[in-house]
Amino acid sequence: MLCRRLGPPQVLEPAEVPLPQPAAGQLRIRVEACGINFPDLLLVAGKYQDRPPLPFIPGGEVAGVVDQLGAGVDGFAVGQPVMAATMLGGLAEYAVARARDTDLRPAGLAAETAAAFPGVYGTAWHALVQRGRLQPGETLLVLGAAGGTGSAAVQIGRALGARVLAAAGSAEKLAFLRAQGADAVIDYRDGGLRDAVKGLTGGRGADVVFDPVGGAAFDQASRCVAWNGRLLVVGFASGTIPRFPVNLALLKGYAVVGVYYGRFRDEQPAEAAANMRALLALLEAGRLAPPIHRVFALENAASALACLQDRSVMGKVVVSLRQPAALGDGGRIAPLTG
Ligand SMILES: NC(=O)c1ccc[n+]([C@@H]2O[C@H](COP(=O)([O-])OP(=O)(O)OC[C@H]3O[C@@H](n4cnc5c(N)ncnc54)[C@H](OP(=O)(O)O)[C@@H]3O)[C@@H](O)[C@H]2O)c1
Repeated sequence: MLCRRLGPPQVLEPAEVPLPQPAAGQLRIRVEACGINFPDLLLVAGKYQDRPPLPFIPGGEVAGVVDQLGAGVDGFAVGQPVMAATMLGGLAEYAVARARDTDLRPAGLAAETAAAFPGVYGTAWHALVQRGRLQPGETLLVLGAAGGTGSAAVQIGRALGARVLAAAGSAEKLAFLRAQGADAVIDYRDGGLRDAVKGLTGGRGADVVFDPVGGAAFDQASRCVAWNGRLLVVGFASGTIPRFPVNLALLKGYAVVGVYYGRFRDEQPAEAAANMRALLALLEAGRLAPPIHRVFALENAASALACLQDRSVMGKVVVSLRQPAALGDGGRIAPLTG
C-alpha cells in the first residue's frame, strides 16, 4: 500500500513495487501481519517529525517469516517466524528490517498478535522503566489508556506492581479498561481528571503520569502529579502540543520527562534489546496480552488507519495478509494462538 501524496488515510493505494533487498545487517521478512500505530497516520498526513521522501510504504511493525538474510546477519535463519520494528514498509507482502530490531516470535503466538507488540509495548516499557523509574506500589496514571501505547502501559504498570489509574474518553473504553485490570478508571472528557486523581490518591496525586495525548488532558494531569513524581511526555494524539507552566514542576518537586523510543533504540541498542527480552518473557508467561480490536485485510489498510483517526480503537488494529480462514471468527483472533 503506497503513499504517493500526503493526506488522509484514503490516499493509500495498492501498487506493484520491486522486491526490497536487505542491506548489510538487515533481513527481508515475508509479512503476515502489520500493526497499525498513530505515527503511521501522522506519516501519511505529513505531520510526523520524520518526513520520508514520496512515494513510501507505511507500516512500522510487522510479524512474518524470515525470507532472506543480508550480509553479516547471524542469529536468524530463513523460514523462522519473527516480529520486527520497521518504521516504514510494513504494509506490503515483503519488508526489510534491521536484524537488531527483529526478534524471534514465541512459539504459538499468532502473527496478528505479534504485530501488535514490539512498538507499543517497547514504547511503554521504555517510558515506565527507564524514563519513569516506576516502582512497585507507586500510583501510575495513564492517559489515552484504551489506545495502543496506553493499553500497553496499563498492562505493564500492573506487571511492575503499580496501582494503575486509567483515563479515557467513553463509557465503553472505561469498561474495556476495567476488563484490562486497571485499579480505577476515570472519564476525562468533562475536565474532572485532576479532582478524580486527587480523590483516588488521598490528595497526593499520581507518582508517574504516562501521557500520549497532550492538549487539555496534559493540562489537567500536570496539576495532579505527586511530590517527586514523573510526568512522561509520550505523544500528542489530541493534535495539541501543550505549553507547560514550569512553576508547577517547582512547586510539586516533579520532573517532566521526554520519551522517544525510536531514538532510544538507535542510541542504546543493547538496552533496547534487553527491554524486549524482558517484555517477551512477560508475554510468554501470559502476563501481557495485546488486545486486538480489529483485523483488516491489506487492501483495507486505509480503514485501519482511519480507526485511529476517529478515536474508536480499544487496544490495537492490525492488518493481516493471511487468508481469512486463518484468522478465526469474524476477523477477531484470540491472543496467543497460532
Ligand atoms: N514517544 C514515543 O516514542 C512514541 C512512540 C509511539 C507513539 N507515540 C505517540 O503517542 C501518541 C499515541 O499513540 P498510540 O499508538 O497510543 O495512539 P492511539 O492508539 O490512537 O491512542 C491515542 C489515544 O489518544 C486519545 N485521543 C485524544 N484526542 C484524540 C484525537 N483528537 N485523535 C485521536 N486520539 C485522541 C484517544 O483516547 P480517548 O478517546 O480515550 O481520549 C486514543 O485512544 C501518538 O502521538 C504517537 O505519535 C510516541
